[in-house]
Parts: sequence; structure tokens; C-alpha cells
Amino acid sequence: MSAQLIDGNALAKSIRADVARRCAALKAKGVTPGLAVILVGDDPASQVYVKHKVNDSHEAGLHSVLERYPATMSESELLARVEALNRDPAIHGVLVQLPVPRHMDAGQIIKAISPAKDVDGFHVASAGALMIGQPGFWPCTPYGCMKMLEAIGCDLRGKNAVVIGRSNIVGKPMALMLLAKNATVTICHSATRDLKAHTLQADVVVAAVGKRNVLTADMVKPGAVVIDVGMNRNDEGKLCGDVDFAGVREVAGWITPVPGGVGPMTRAMLLVNTLEAAERAAGVYRAD
Ligand code: GUN
Repeated sequence: MSAQLIDGNALAKSIRADVARRCAALKAKGVTPGLAVILVGDDPASQVYVKHKVNDSHEAGLHSVLERYPATMSESELLARVEALNRDPAIHGVLVQLPVPRHMDAGQIIKAISPAKDVDGFHVASAGALMIGQPGFWPCTPYGCMKMLEAIGCDLRGKNAVVIGRSNIVGKPMALMLLAKNATVTICHSATRDLKAHTLQADVVVAAVGKRNVLTADMVKPGAVVIDVGMNRNDEGKLCGDVDFAGVREVAGWITPVPGGVGPMTRAMLLVNTLEAAERAAGVYRAD
């Protein structure tokens, strides 16, 4: 039996529609949510990503500005721009697209963003808030994965969840979010001895490594939910994830496709975070 698809495009569309409704309500109160996106240099992939972020924002009714700077910009100039945006009342979310040029320290730049405007959820204050269950911004990709699990009615309580990958922006926050929903969480990584032994026990697997075929059909428990965060190219140059989709879909109960799975959800959750930043600033935010 083939797994059911978790349609990230459809779910992201309904989330964007909800953001647009809440944005209109906030505008009626005189507050327009504002997102500033900074791109330093001319990395081709980053140029595409930031264009999407700005266009998505406009479509949902947010105010969004793209600031582009040459790769020769100094770190202190960038820090000065971030600090100015931190003080700008029309801007509720500040995002510096990564990677930044090599002469800059990404850690220092993320640290400079006000935690109240950290819509990427990368600041150490955001990571700490997630860790101890306090309000704060969650990184968009794992947040989007949680929304997908919620949308299929996956009750995580007592379930075995395996996260493959331990990055600060996906693997680690993903594990904390699953833990907050009472899953029993295992993080696997490049030094894990027997990945298959772990994944075969998992009711939910999140693959976030950035390598093709990390998860194959023989590694999946029948009926498991498989979320594929990967964004890779196959030999024909086509976009593919970390999961052997054709094989795993014959074993899993639910699976996310690539493209059309986690990718659109990541983009949608940036809008959610920006809207919430504006709602918090306006004192009208209600957690759901
Ligand atoms: N580069 C790749 N993905 C991201 C992201 O989600 N946020 C930022 N700021 N940079 C990125």
C-alpha cells in the first residue's frame, strides 16, 4: 500500500490565507506587519530565496523590503544596518540571508538581531526559549514540519520520533519541538552507529541531512510518518530530498514529497512568525 502524501503546497496555501486574514485585521488597527530581508553578495540560490520571501510577504499583505548589499560590505556596516532595523517601528521581522560572505561572522550577525524581531528563530534567545518552553520564535523549517504533523492528526504523545541530522536550524529545534509534544525523541547523526536500528523503531522520522537516500524502504517501520527536509539534486539534476521517495512511499503511512512538501511550509512559517512579531509589538498576540 502506498503512503498518503502530506501536501505541503496545499497546507502552506491555507496558512498563507490565514496570515492574510490576520494581517488585514492588524492593518485595520493601524499596524502593518513589516519584514526586512538583507542579502549580502550575489549567491544565486540566496537571490531566489529572498525573492520568494519578499513576494510571499507582499501577497499576504505584509510590508516587505529587500536590502541588497555587495559582498564587499564590511561586517560593521551590516551590523549597523541590523541595529537600525531593530529600532525601526515599521519593521517587525529582520532576516539576514545566510550564508553571509566569508569575511563575516554569521554568529555575530544573528546575535545582533533583536530577539523580538528574530523571525528566523536563529538567535540564541530564541533557541533558549524553545528549549525551556517559553514564548519565542521557532525556526521556520521545523515549525513547518510540526504543522504538517498536526495537519494529519498525528498525536505524538509516547511515539518514537527519530530526527536524522543535528543542525542548529533544523535537527536540534525539531527534536525539541517533538519532545514538547511528548514524543520519545532520538537524534541520529554522522557518528550514529546503526541508523537503521533506530529508524526501524520510529513512528515518525524526520530526515534533515542534505544527502540523497539517507532513508530507504528497508529502514522504515510500516505505517510510519516520514518527513523529508532534504533539498538535493539527483543525477538528472531534478530536485530530490534525503528520502528514497519511490521506495519509502511503499512502506510508510504518510510521506512528504520533494518538491511540494517541507519547502513551501518553511516559506509560510516565516510569514506566520513575522505576523506574530507584529501582533506581539501591537499587544494583540494570542497563542493558539
Ligand atoms: N539560508 C538558507 N535558509 C535560510 C533561512 O531559513 N534563513 C536565513 N536567514 N538564511 C537561510
